[in-house]
Amino acid sequence: MMSKILALLSVLSIASAAPLATCPGYRVTNVQSGDSYLVADLTLAGNKCNIYSEDITNLRLTVEYQTDTRLHVLIEDREKNVYQIQGNILPRPTSQNSSSQTTDLRFSYEANPFSFKVTRASTGDVLFDTSPSPLIFETQYLRLRTRLPPNPNLYGLGEHSDSFRLPTDGYKRTLWNSEAPYIPQNQNLYGSHPVYFEHRSGTSNKGPATHGVFLRSASGMDIIIGKSDSNEQYLEYNTIGGVFDFYFLAGPSPEQVSKQYAAAVGLPAMMPYWSLGFHQCKYGWPDLAHVKQVVANYSAAGIPLEAVWDDIDYMDNKLDFSTDPVRYPKDQLRKFVDELHGKDMRYVQILDPGIRNKQDYGPFKRGADKGVFLKAADGSWYRGLQWPGEVVWPDWIAPQTKEWWTTEILTFYDPNNGIDIDGLWIDMNEASNMCADTMCLSSAQDMEARSVQVHNQTPLSPRAPQHAAAPGDGQHLGLPNRDLFTPRYQISNHYPSLSSRTLFTNITNADGTTQYDTHNLHGLFMSLTTRSALVARSPTKRPFLLTRSTFSGSSRFAAHWFGDNFSSWADYRASIRQLLSFSAVHNYPMVGSDVCGFNGQAQERMCARWAVLGAWHPFYRNHADVSAPDQEFYRWDVVKEAARKAVGTRYRLLDYFYTGLHYASTRGEVLVKPVWYGWPGDENTYGIDTQFMVGDAVLVNPVVEDDTQSVSFYLPKGVWYDFFSHDRIDQSAGGQTITVTGVNWDEISVYIRGGSILPLRLSDSLPSGSDAGQAMTTKEVRARNFEIIVAPDANGKASGKLYLDDGESLDSSGKESEIDFSWNGKRLEARGTFGYETGVKVVRVVVLGDAERKAEGEWGLMGSFTVDF
Ligand code: NOJ
Repeated sequence: MMSKILALLSVLSIASAAPLATCPGYRVTNVQSGDSYLVADLTLAGNKCNIYSEDITNLRLTVEYQTDTRLHVLIEDREKNVYQIQGNILPRPTSQNSSSQTTDLRFSYEANPFSFKVTRASTGDVLFDTSPSPLIFETQYLRLRTRLPPNPNLYGLGEHSDSFRLPTDGYKRTLWNSEAPYIPQNQNLYGSHPVYFEHRSGTSNKGPATHGVFLRSASGMDIIIGKSDSNEQYLEYNTIGGVFDFYFLAGPSPEQVSKQYAAAVGLPAMMPYWSLGFHQCKYGWPDLAHVKQVVANYSAAGIPLEAVWDDIDYMDNKLDFSTDPVRYPKDQLRKFVDELHGKDMRYVQILDPGIRNKQDYGPFKRGADKGVFLKAADGSWYRGLQWPGEVVWPDWIAPQTKEWWTTEILTFYDPNNGIDIDGLWIDMNEASNMCADTMCLSSAQDMEARSVQVHNQTPLSPRAPQHAAAPGDGQHLGLPNRDLFTPRYQISNHYPSLSSRTLFTNITNADGTTQYDTHNLHGLFMSLTTRSALVARSPTKRPFLLTRSTFSGSSRFAAHWFGDNFSSWADYRASIRQLLSFSAVHNYPMVGSDVCGFNGQAQERMCARWAVLGAWHPFYRNHADVSAPDQEFYRWDVVKEAARKAVGTRYRLLDYFYTGLHYASTRGEVLVKPVWYGWPGDENTYGIDTQFMVGDAVLVNPVVEDDTQSVSFYLPKGVWYDFFSHDRIDQSAGGQTITVTGVNWDEISVYIRGGSILPLRLSDSLPSGSDAGQAMTTKEVRARNFEIIVAPDANGKASGKLYLDDGESLDSSGKESEIDFSWNGKRLEARGTFGYETGVKVVRVVVLGDAERKAEGEWGLMGSFTVDF
């Protein structure tokens, strides 16, 4: 009864500001400052209010002008016991000691009660202002509210499937990585990215400007965007732990904010070229013969298939590092993979973090001997339920775990006598636990059928002792004596408690931290460890890794897909919103959805549209659930035709995508961007989340209504060329909405932005001069000659770039070409550095326009060249 009353109180106090107003806030003393910093003590300014736990009396404020565009504001406990993300998993951006005189972000504060403002120096715009309510910093509840302009343009705060431009009233984003069988809106999903971008359109005397706010906290949290009783717009952080560790990013252009965020959390990993090919997967393929048939069917249908993926079906009783002896015999699987490689195709397998705890299961035995698994508070292995039955989970933080996991990967995937994979897919790493709650399995019959007795271990009580390692040592490992199961502030996790369907939050990790504080980092840690195992396996090759659970910075290690969507038009549309949030705001270029949808039955026309749309996402994989019917593209005539064309088009643009990925991984540039990135002053663009730009040159406008053949989309100011017909539209006077009808199921509206130069592979042109037809693999794509498409702007000018390397080396330095193209109205110039010999040539240059012009010839790609018209 008591806990119910407390829960009710929690809800009431979120809804009304009344009890919080009684909190005293903090007062500032002992200020020391220099040109690039300010430090001060913050001391509770009155009696403790203990809203949801106990107020921490003594805090420390540290402000650093790190660069001219990055300001760091850290509010931490003076004792440094509250958990902070360890630098080995997410390195802290280092300060370049910029000066408060040169930076565009200015920090100012009020001393009593403490509040602070971040102002853009060049315009005087207040970007962040915490004065609306006093800071609350308790042992298990932190609150900070910032005032915002009315109706702000806010983006990010994923992972979610909500609108790209976030709702501004009554909206709550909960960050608590979670298993999710579907991807509904307004729900926490697999990853946490506590970063938002805010874009302001500017006024008559100020231009548009964007800034970013990254809260470097892994704590579970609710971020509320709403309006106060006095109708004042705000954004409010409510966390159940951690500290307030803010990085403010000045922009002022959106692309600059993206780059500044990439610099703060680490640049995305460069992907191998082949991973841009088309991938097919399915949960529920019965046996190897079936998988072989899928490959054969793709080939017969003339649809290029680059990579085949095996889900958990290949495993023996769903055990990692095993193959089913009857359905997927290891020697035959090995042979199959060799055959795929013989056809220049690729093979990827899934691995899950839950390890079956059976003494005769080698990976468990070896892990247990090394002590790599998480322990319950009574010292026994912490047990839960996953695909193979009762499982234990690796403690990714323990140093010996890396050694164990790497050895298992090196052994099972030994290229000489193991499965010679080309990449790995790590799943269920939120971590997902099929135990619904702390009393897991006691009554569930299906669980009994698996003879599982989980959680008969102590503790079952939410009041169990916790935190074996002595905190209080100033190491940011986490405060002692907290209620790690049921903190009184309840974030809006879509499962009933923090520990539902995941690991008990009172588990202690090897370094003394607890799952309560590190839960949101599980997928990040697993990605880091798995990537390093893949590098150990092939030290010179770029690894390919796909992860379901992510945190800020995960793109340094792995690609990501959007999880278990539905075969519906609604989730087809959601894929565009998710693409935009991940690519532009979360610094995550290599992403895509399960094309044609994971759950439910795909319909022919929807699947055709999705096959075409997916071809414009960086990661392009068709995948479905065990309960869903097969949905490979060749299964319907309309989809077959659509996919053939879509993959063909994508493969012509593959070097354009690859170039974008290269600059994402080296400079933090954005590969897929929202329309407003290109037109930050045009308010019509701010809410668009059914269109997207790939790079700076290509605008994609998919049909988004159910079952229709028409699309209305916004074409911003400028000169545009239809990608397929080359028709020119001059909108120099201003942007407008265009409606296109009769868009066949295998078509999509794509425009090239005037002012761009696009290097495209010619599907039918080989250096030998012979016509080889459509490239069926990315290796074949790489053997095709180029054509250069010049799309002049209103002034007749254009530019573009092309990056080339061998597509697979981890270190390509010295063996890469970076080519800049420019067009001045008469002459195409190609200049740059030329370190990679492709063996192919540019054989055609096309200048788009009302009177299209073409030059044919042979221009090598190992030196500068010019083409005159
Ligand atoms: C959940 C993943 O999201 C899905 O893609 C996969 O097919 C299943 N797990 C089975 O491994």
